[in-house]
Amino acid sequence: MDKPFRRRDLLGIRNLSAAEIVGILDTAENFREVNAREIKKVPTLRGKTVINLFFEASTRTRTSFELAAKRLSADAVNISVTSSALTKGETLIDTALNLDAMSPDCIVVRHSSAGVPHQLAKVSKAAIVNAGDGANEHPTQALLDAMTIREHKGKIENLQVAIVGDILHSRVARSNIHLLTKLGASIRVAGPKTLVPNDFQFLVEKDLHVAANVEEAIDGADVVMILRIQRERQDSAYFPTLREYAVHYGLTQERLNLAKSDAIVLHPGPMNRGIEIASDVADSSRSLILDQVKYGVAVRMAVLYLATGGNPA
Ligand code: CP
Repeated sequence: MDKPFRRRDLLGIRNLSAAEIVGILDTAENFREVNAREIKKVPTLRGKTVINLFFEASTRTRTSFELAAKRLSADAVNISVTSSALTKGETLIDTALNLDAMSPDCIVVRHSSAGVPHQLAKVSKAAIVNAGDGANEHPTQALLDAMTIREHKGKIENLQVAIVGDILHSRVARSNIHLLTKLGASIRVAGPKTLVPNDFQFLVEKDLHVAANVEEAIDGADVVMILRIQRERQDSAYFPTLREYAVHYGLTQERLNLAKSDAIVLHPGPMNRGIEIASDVADSSRSLILDQVKYGVAVRMAVLYLATGGNPA
């Protein structure tokens, strides 16, 4: 297997080249088949150790990193932050140094503050993988979204992608904007004015348009990506009520009809049914929400393999 991604850490999509992104996606394609086997295990990372260090709640990312490590035969350790020495006043860096002293090969970290994975990468000998840092980036989510789009559309270049919802607080939006524009898609974003940043300084590529409303963003789209309202990151009221949010910004079947007839619907989860997405849309054949979760395991196998320098199966 070629190693298209030669960095030690995966901290974000922003600094990756298009070739590196495609390389990770192609590597993930090789691991998809393992997840379809009856015995879902290969010896690729035997003898390697992966620590999952999650300071925020997670269902999909944490489980799929653990499954990815185990299916590659690595030893996977999950650290529960509530029962760790962090609750006794230990600093984050001291925690990282102590974990590093046990010689793990990779530490997967999620934290509510932007930049924590980058800080850990400076002091750790282990590879650091960002599993979501505040509102900054969620690189493996963007990679699994890209894998889902490639699988169903055959390409990413020249696709029209609508990203709708709480753009301001969304690390998923930032990583996707970086990835999709690097691979040649055009993006329209829409949401409440209070939740769409008016400066996109964080962008490397600029093929992005802020639509006046959700209908304009979705009109003619190939892909409709709906974001969760990040209530845990909202320090004030950004819209009057959830009911009004659903009326003005929620993805209904009527709004989806504005997209191309073969448009696909993505949502990173966890979803708020009846708020940002109507239940009938979430459960429709155009919704690929569970495919995203499925591809998440293969993407994370690829990331662990590339970050730890594993041997081909
Ligand atoms: N998409 C995502 O990050 O989901 P979790 O919070 O469940 O990991």
